[in-house]
Amino acid sequence: MNILSKIDPLELRQALGNFGTGVTIVSTRAADGCPVGVTVNSFNSVSLDPPIVLWSLNKTSPSLAAFEQAGRFVIQVLAIDQIDLSRRFASRTPEKFGGVHHRCGLGGLPVIEGCTAAFECLTLEQRTVGDHILFLGHIEAFDQRHGASLLYCQGRYARGVSLETSAT
Ligand SMILES: Cc1cc2nc3c(=O)[nH]c(=O)nc-3n(C[C@H](O)[C@H](O)[C@H](O)COP(=O)(O)O)c2cc1C
Repeated sequence: MNILSKIDPLELRQALGNFGTGVTIVSTRAADGCPVGVTVNSFNSVSLDPPIVLWSLNKTSPSLAAFEQAGRFVIQVLAIDQIDLSRRFASRTPEKFGGVHHRCGLGGLPVIEGCTAAFECLTLEQRTVGDHILFLGHIEAFDQRHGASLLYCQGRYARGVSLETSAT
């Protein structure tokens, strides 16, 4: 049992990792025009009406300035065949968008092709919470396509296997 005063950060991270998620790339465009993107699984829906989502970015991220400056972002939900993209955008590779098919979305932001869903958002609010910056975004446009989404649980990429015959 971990009590509050003795929390082991590694064990905490491992315990939190039991909560399975999808995998997204959050993108924007930097002031110099370069596309910017980061692999993120802190994405979640907050409100349907109005449509609001959230995600958080480590304060130390070199991509932070671009998200702050642009005031908008795109959440791309990755498909099962996009593990390589997830790895690439989780790395410090300088040219993450090199060879990545994308179109120009609202505000000129890059929207990566082949994802199961994309949500184009205007930043509603941005707030420092601990060692991360929390972003709340208003969805201005979205699209989706059929296909399995990539999952992430217990530190590993995974594929979802349905336990029911119809959606609940
Ligand atoms: C599956 C997965 C989920 C991640 N989720 C987040 C997240 O929600 N927030 C975050 O700041 N970093 C997250 N990361 C780590 C970033 O992708 C990684 O630090 C990357 O280098 C960030 O790009 P940057 O160097 O441009 O900041 C995640 C990594 C992986 C593999």
